[in-house]
Amino acid sequence: MNDPHFWWYVSRASAIVAWSLLTATVLWGVLLSTRVLRAADNPAWLKDLHRYLSGTAIVMTLVHVGSLLLDPYLRAQAGFGVIEAFVPFASEFKPLPLALGIVALYLMAGIGLSSLAMHRIPLRVWKGLHYLSYVVVALVAFHAAFAGSDTGTWWYIMVSTALIVATTLAVVVRQIVGSVAAQRQRAAARARQMPQRSERSRMIVAERVPLAEGVVGLRLVPEVGGLVPVWTPGSHLTLHLANGLERQYSLCGDPADRRSFDIAVHLSERSAGGSRYIHESLRAGEVVEIGPPHNRFELEPATDYLFIAGGIGITALTSMFASLPASRHWSLVYLGRSRRTMPFVDLLESRYPGRVRVHATDERGGRYPAAAEAALSRAQVYACGPAGLLDELTAAVPSERLHLERFVPADRTAGIVAQPVHVRMPGLGSFRVPADRSILEVLEDAGAPVTGSCRKGICGTCELRVLDGMPLHLDSVTADTEKDAAGVMYPCVSRALSPQLSLDV
Ligand code: FES
Repeated sequence: MNDPHFWWYVSRASAIVAWSLLTATVLWGVLLSTRVLRAADNPAWLKDLHRYLSGTAIVMTLVHVGSLLLDPYLRAQAGFGVIEAFVPFASEFKPLPLALGIVALYLMAGIGLSSLAMHRIPLRVWKGLHYLSYVVVALVAFHAAFAGSDTGTWWYIMVSTALIVATTLAVVVRQIVGSVAAQRQRAAARARQMPQRSERSRMIVAERVPLAEGVVGLRLVPEVGGLVPVWTPGSHLTLHLANGLERQYSLCGDPADRRSFDIAVHLSERSAGGSRYIHESLRAGEVVEIGPPHNRFELEPATDYLFIAGGIGITALTSMFASLPASRHWSLVYLGRSRRTMPFVDLLESRYPGRVRVHATDERGGRYPAAAEAALSRAQVYACGPAGLLDELTAAVPSERLHLERFVPADRTAGIVAQPVHVRMPGLGSFRVPADRSILEVLEDAGAPVTGSCRKGICGTCELRVLDGMPLHLDSVTADTEKDAAGVMYPCVSRALSPQLSLDV
């Protein structure tokens, strides 16, 4: 500390570390958004690493600014103080390079804050702010090139060249892969206008194993070989069964393992033919058609998770634990009638010791106070299970902490008398939907490019954009606030609060 150059060394070291971390943050952000390494990466730890890197980059930038303020030479010779450190062009010492650094600091802070508030601001705003990261890196490069007193040294030139080349490569990869992804999205949108058959792919039942009493596990591999499409924790698959029925099943296991799709099917006592067909007729070696994975139960970034599964509801959650980093704080409450009927119970207890609490009624008796525990915790609660359990959680846990997936629709029609609705669809015309028919049925009859799967308001397949009017949400796909924020509705069960709705695919 007595060395007169001490704070100069600290400022240079922290500047280089901050710049390196910033570059690494951008690289990781590109990996995350493009998934170019999707065969090997894992979105959850990429997301974590991206956040740690960006957080540490901001801290190191503040260390850099602090060390400049503490440098006695800068104070005495250049009159460098708080105003000069935080107000652009306030310093007479290299005003433009310093101003660029100060603007970069504010942008970094804005991007960091927008990420903390990601769930409270529109996705478009968050994305737009995130794109400013490239501007920050460019500003930092100019700031570093012209503000530092050691910019001519060989090591500085080497480090800065490496950082600038890495960032440029990241931008190029983002552009190339981003446009490929946009093309794919357009192609997928076009495909949605065609008969749904074109979206199907053929899978072979590679394995069929009993997982618990009344639950069979299926491992599906592509008939043509290769890897299965990318999927994220919480996704489900639609199986198009040979008996003409369609059924959705949650994908189990680790999304990073793309050799197969694994699902678990519970034989429903009230089976209308779907689970019964799978249990009694679908054998290993047979082919089954599937739709692409869809996710309406996404795992959002959080510091602490409480997972609650009731019986077969565990299948919607296993991919979430598998994708979380080992250091992440989470626990699982797994409820069931008996261990015999609870798939994965032993596996989960042995794989995640100390995190899994099993309550099998035939062992412990009584009811586990899951809703009370979830209400008292500060964790994000992810739950899937019978309607009674999910209704209790809905009543006890604030909606911003609660994420549900239902396999039985909530009864939302109590006290509601269906009214006729007028629906307009651009390019197709206007239709009157009588009280005894669903909006989906009428639109399908009119040739609208929309299809349903569950037709009970749980799978999300029939999603439409609301252009005008007020929908009356009666589905159980996501929270009503989420649907309103996204401007969508599910016409298989939902109706309208306004006399007319204008909808689009
Ligand atoms: S068809 Fe499943 S939500 Fe509408």
